[in-house]
Amino acid sequence: MSVRQAISLRGGKRLEGEIQVQGAKNSALPVLAAAVLCRTQVTLYNCPSLTDCDAAMRILTALGCGCRREGGAVTINPSVITSVEIPSGLMREMRSSVIFSGALLGREKQCRLSFPGGCEIGARPIDFHIAAFKKMGASVSDEHGCLICRADRLTGAKISLPLPSVGATENIMLAAVLAEGVTEIHNAAREPEIVDLAQFLTKCGARISGAGSGLVIIEGVSELHGCDYTIMSDRIAAATYLCCGAITRGELLLTKADYLSCQPVLSVLEQMGCSIYSFGSDSLYLNARKKLKPPPMIRTAAHPGFPTDAQPVLMALCASIPGTSIFVETIFENRYRHVSELIRLGAKINVEGRVAVVEGTERLSGAELMATDLRGGAAMITAGLIAEGVTRIGNAAYIYRGYEDIEKTLRSVGADIKPL
Ligand code: EPZ
Repeated sequence: MSVRQAISLRGGKRLEGEIQVQGAKNSALPVLAAAVLCRTQVTLYNCPSLTDCDAAMRILTALGCGCRREGGAVTINPSVITSVEIPSGLMREMRSSVIFSGALLGREKQCRLSFPGGCEIGARPIDFHIAAFKKMGASVSDEHGCLICRADRLTGAKISLPLPSVGATENIMLAAVLAEGVTEIHNAAREPEIVDLAQFLTKCGARISGAGSGLVIIEGVSELHGCDYTIMSDRIAAATYLCCGAITRGELLLTKADYLSCQPVLSVLEQMGCSIYSFGSDSLYLNARKKLKPPPMIRTAAHPGFPTDAQPVLMALCASIPGTSIFVETIFENRYRHVSELIRLGAKINVEGRVAVVEGTERLSGAELMATDLRGGAAMITAGLIAEGVTRIGNAAYIYRGYEDIEKTLRSVGADIKPL
């Protein structure tokens, strides 16, 4: 990540106004990969302008798909696939590119990719993905750090996931939609992004049932056509902006939001004393003028539990409110890297393994920070909005992976924030 890109903010401004929530990064990425399975043009609307989406588009281009962006619309022409190799540079840049392996296996019955290493928040193994591909008839070999998958035929299988893995559920769906026969995914992830992917694939002619539940059933079809599709709203970006509003005791209206997918976070913010109303199909109103109290315990879990991706920004909010909160991070083994940076602002946080104990304080003061990962960087912005004085955050490229125009968005509701 380039240290060059940095963000500077001066704390103390209440956020007030309206924010339009971006399209969901974690739906756009698997749906961009799913386009590889289609024989005709795909147009995706509400596709967020993020460096991670740019990387996915570069992979599509490398595979031979025409790919162009016009504002929030991305058009893909997947009629001809000329390569089954995911460029190793792009694999390194974005480990979630592994999602292309299921799509390539489904379309071309082969794929080649450099092993997706771990990342800042954990080892990020893909053993569930590989075991499922093998069960569907693929051979998977590891040659000089490259994963090579091949199948004469892909057949439906009964797959039981040891953990409700989002990526594994998505990758199996992508491999299964053109396989021969029926695939069952037991202990499937239930995240809203899985439902969005299933809706996209169904619109392209796939036969999928149970998405959003623990049992997803895919009946293979012979081919998929393209379609026009609108990506769902980003529930983690929404959670981030709500925490930014709450930490400044502000008042925000989020539009193009998705109330239901935000519910696990909304219920915690309400428990803390925030007034939250949803109206229409896609608007959320937050008022945090009242005195807030920290939640006693936050335990991350697979959906519909509290999302691990919102843990860092909620921790930043709790760090600024007197009282004790206990966080238990059950999904990733190394997702407290933002803690040492929040401590530089004066936060009082103790970490022991997967548990973090936060003693909130109203005396946070600006400092020089370095973003540690995407959501950790967002937590630093959140805390910097209330810290006295100036906070500078280096490695901002981490943040641009998942937040579209974050400085412009926060400035539009009163934050004193700018790129350096
Ligand atoms: C997706 O990652 C998201 N990324 C993550 O968001 C999110 O934190 C995560 O799901 C959990 O909700 C995208 O959608 C692009 P998992 P993924 O497979 O699919 C273990 C962000 O900030 N596991 O559900 O990689 C794994 O180690 C990112 O936007 C295996 O052991 O997550 C973890 O402990 C960060 N073997 C647990 O499962 C496997 O083969 C859940 O991981 C796969 C996963």
